[in-house]
Amino acid sequence: MTATIKAPAAAAAASEALAERLLLATNAVWDVFSVHLGHRLGYYRSLAADGAATAAELAVRTDTHPRYAREWLELQAVAGILAAHEDPIGGDEARRFSLPAGHAAVLADADDPNFLAPLAQITVGAVAPVHELVAAFRTGGGVPYADYGTDLRDGQAGMNRNFFLSQLGTEYLPAIPDLHARLRANPDAKIADIGCGVGWSSIALAQTYPNATVDGFDLDAASVEDARDHVADAGLDCRVTIHLRDAADPALAGRYDLATAFECVHDMSDPVGALRTMRRLAGDRGTVLVVDERAGESFDPDAGEIERLLYGFSVFHCLPVGMAERPSAGTGTVMRPGTFRRYAEAAGFRSVEILPLDNLFFRFYRLAV
Ligand SMILES: C[S@@+](CC[C@H](N)C(=O)[O-])C[C@H]1O[C@@H](n2cnc3c(N)ncnc32)[C@H](O)[C@@H]1O
Repeated sequence: MTATIKAPAAAAAASEALAERLLLATNAVWDVFSVHLGHRLGYYRSLAADGAATAAELAVRTDTHPRYAREWLELQAVAGILAAHEDPIGGDEARRFSLPAGHAAVLADADDPNFLAPLAQITVGAVAPVHELVAAFRTGGGVPYADYGTDLRDGQAGMNRNFFLSQLGTEYLPAIPDLHARLRANPDAKIADIGCGVGWSSIALAQTYPNATVDGFDLDAASVEDARDHVADAGLDCRVTIHLRDAADPALAGRYDLATAFECVHDMSDPVGALRTMRRLAGDRGTVLVVDERAGESFDPDAGEIERLLYGFSVFHCLPVGMAERPSAGTGTVMRPGTFRRYAEAAGFRSVEILPLDNLFFRFYRLAV
C-alpha cells in the first residue's frame, strides 16, 4: 500500500523537477543565443574597447538598430552577463550598460584562454539546419557540412584557434621529443594536415617549425577558401598550401614526415579511408598523429558534463555530417578509444599509442605501422 502511494508522489516530484529544469535550461539557451548575437554584432567588442553605452550609443557604434540593441542589452543585464547603470533623470533611454570585470576576457578578447564566444557561435551553427536534421532522423540520411554555414565554421575555428596558435607548438609537440626534433632538423620537414578546416592548425605547424612546409587538406570548399585567406594574412603562402581534397581519396599521394588530423576523424563518413591515406603519406618513417575528443572508454550515463557536451554536438552536428555520404561509419563526436583503435587497425596500423598529454577535451593518438 505504502509503495503504491509513494510511487505517484515520487513521479510527481520528478515531473516538477524536470519541468523546472527545462524552464531554467531555456534561459540558459537564451544566454547562449544572445551571447552569439553580441559576438556577431560586435556589441561586446564595442563595450570592451569603448566602455559603457546606452542602447542608442551602442547602436551608433555598431551600426545596428537602437530598438533591438536596447532589448538585447536589457536581456543581457537581466541574465547577469552585462551590468546596468541607472540614470535617475534620463530614465530608460539613458540607462548605460557595461561589461563587468572579467567578462571581456570571455566575450571580447579572441586571444584570451577563456574566450568562449565561439562556443555560443558553434552551438547556434549546429542547430541552424534543424529541419533537415529532423528529416535525417526519419530517413537515416545526413546533413552536409556546408549546410551548417558560416556560424558553425567560424565557431569551430574560434574554439580551436587559441589551442593551435598558443599551445600546440609550445606545449604539446615539444612533449613528443623525437617528433619535435625531426620537425626542426634537416632535411626540411614536410607535414600533411588532414581535415585542416580554416587552416589554424596548418599555420601553427608552419610557425612552430620555420623550415617545414605544410599541405592542408579539407573537403569543404568554404573552409578551404577561409584557410587560404588566413594563410595569406599570416604571410605563409610560400610554405603552407591548402588543398580542396577528400582525405579518403586513394589517389592522394606524397611523402611526409608528419600526417596530422585534428578533431576531424569522428566527422568523416570514411574514417578508415582517411587513416589509410595518412598511413600512405607518412610511409614507414613518418609519424601519424590524430587528436580527437576525449570521450570515455565506454557508455556511462554518469559520464559528466564534458561527455554531455560532446553528445549534444554529436546529435546536432557531427553524426549527421558523417552520415551525409554513403557508406558511412556513423561515428559521431563521442568517438571512444576502442572505436578509434578499430578504425586504425582496419587502416593497417600495427599499434595505437595514447600519448600521456593532459587536455580536458582532446586525446592524442600516435599510430605506428
Ligand atoms: C570539426 S572540423 C575540424 C577542423 C579543424 N581540424 C579544427 O580542428 O578546427 C572537421 C573538418 O573535417 C573536414 N572533413 C570531413 N571529412 C573530410 C574528408 N573526408 N576529407 C577532408 N576533410 C574532411 C570538414 O570539412 C571540417 O573542416
